[in-house]
Amino acid sequence: MLTKTFINTKIFQTSTFRLAAIYLLVFAVSAGSLLGYVYYTTVGLLERQTEDTIHAEIMGLADQYKLLGLAGLLDSINRRSSESNGEIYLLVGPDGKRVVGNLATMPPEITEDQIWSDFQISVGKEPNVVQHTARGFQVQLANEYELLVGRDVQELRQFRDLIREALAWAVGMSLVLGLGGGYMMSRNFLRRVDGISDATQTIMEGNLSGRMPVTGANDELDRLARSLNTMLSQIERLMTGMKEVTSNVAHDLRTPLTRMRARVEAALRQENKAEYKQALDQTIEECDQLLRTFNALLSIAQAEAGQMRQGLQALDLHEILIDVVELYQPLVEEAGGTLTLGESPPMRIRGDRQLIAQVLNNLIDNAMKYGETTEGQGAIIDVRGSTSDNMAVIEVADHGRGIASDDRERVLGRFVRLDQSRTKPGNGLGLSLVASVMTLHSGSLQLEDNNPGLRAVLRLPLLD
Ligand SMILES: Nc1ncnc2c1ncn2[C@@H]1O[C@H](COP(=O)(O)OP(=O)(O)O)[C@@H](O)[C@H]1O
Ligand SMILES: [Mg+2]
Repeated sequence: MLTKTFINTKIFQTSTFRLAAIYLLVFAVSAGSLLGYVYYTTVGLLERQTEDTIHAEIMGLADQYKLLGLAGLLDSINRRSSESNGEIYLLVGPDGKRVVGNLATMPPEITEDQIWSDFQISVGKEPNVVQHTARGFQVQLANEYELLVGRDVQELRQFRDLIREALAWAVGMSLVLGLGGGYMMSRNFLRRVDGISDATQTIMEGNLSGRMPVTGANDELDRLARSLNTMLSQIERLMTGMKEVTSNVAHDLRTPLTRMRARVEAALRQENKAEYKQALDQTIEECDQLLRTFNALLSIAQAEAGQMRQGLQALDLHEILIDVVELYQPLVEEAGGTLTLGESPPMRIRGDRQLIAQVLNNLIDNAMKYGETTEGQGAIIDVRGSTSDNMAVIEVADHGRGIASDDRERVLGRFVRLDQSRTKPGNGLGLSLVASVMTLHSGSLQLEDNNPGLRAVLRLPLLD
């Protein structure tokens, strides 16, 4: 007996099982009608043929009786039963005794009110007598004579039983296989859906690294699981990024705020007006720095959220390059360095003008701060644009100390500043912004060695 532990009742509620059950029903009905037709055209046909023969014979004998009377009938029966080959004839008189025929007595199964009946006959010689089933037609003649004509239908009945058994097996097997198959299929399906629900549960409990199970069967459930996993990875990345930013922000803002507070406190203890003024000036400067940090963070957040993507317009990078270089040239030269813009072709891209300009500002600003060959000499900065492989390529190169290859990935993180750069102003957000703006534009930022110095290479897809 199957108990609850073996049969999971949830299975019967799955769509797979319902589908399987519907298919099974349709299949059972069509198989049933097909088999019924086969039965009707084989067994049914043979039985009808037998009855037709018996009926024809009865009619023949009745004609004999009408034409030739009892004597003629006796003669006919005698003749026919002597060459008997499975045919059965019996004529009994009003006293119930046999008058003529190849049966000893009227079989007990035959009653007067029934014309067609099945009865048992003994076949063969002693001691090999066996019982066969026969089918007969019985009529009342005048003078209370009774005539029975029949056929041995033993073989026909065996054939009928065989066919019936085969039909029953066919129907039974298809039911069992169909139900079993449906059950197995649904169980498999259910197991996988359960896997996905379990994974969802784990994730909802806070384990963001949980993923949907992928079986490798490459079916629609696997595809679903894969897309969900891609989505989860994206969410996890964003969440981790957000956590990092929050703690970084908290950490990095505490230092300047503490410093500011200490300075204001110290100024309050002073009587001197000039020192007041100096403290306030420094405070304003520090506030500006904080505002810059916040603005940079906001820009990064916006670029990363990708909301600006709809706002991207067609623009020429070359024009932005000229503007930015023009803006920075006096500053660089004032510091004793040079900023040159090499030959560059028109480069039409889809982008946000302000963000792209910000990116170039950040790179040139870095080159100015960290690209000096000798301290206080100013930096030699080369900017150039080109196109290759349907990409606009912009390079900003300096000849300073560069970034060691191990650090090139790290400096893209938020608030990351290399130790030797701490003497220069900055918040460590410049390259982060460059990287997120590049992602927003489906482009890339690559930091390379300029031997010596750093070469920042931007690649952006060209408009065709
Ligand atoms: N051109 C460069 N040459 C050498 N080091 C650089 C250069 N650009 C950036 N870096 C290093 O990468 C760090 C991160 O740069 P960035 O994100 O722009 O922050 P910030 O300029 O505020 O320090 C810098 O602190 C510096 O250590
Ligand atoms: Mg910078």
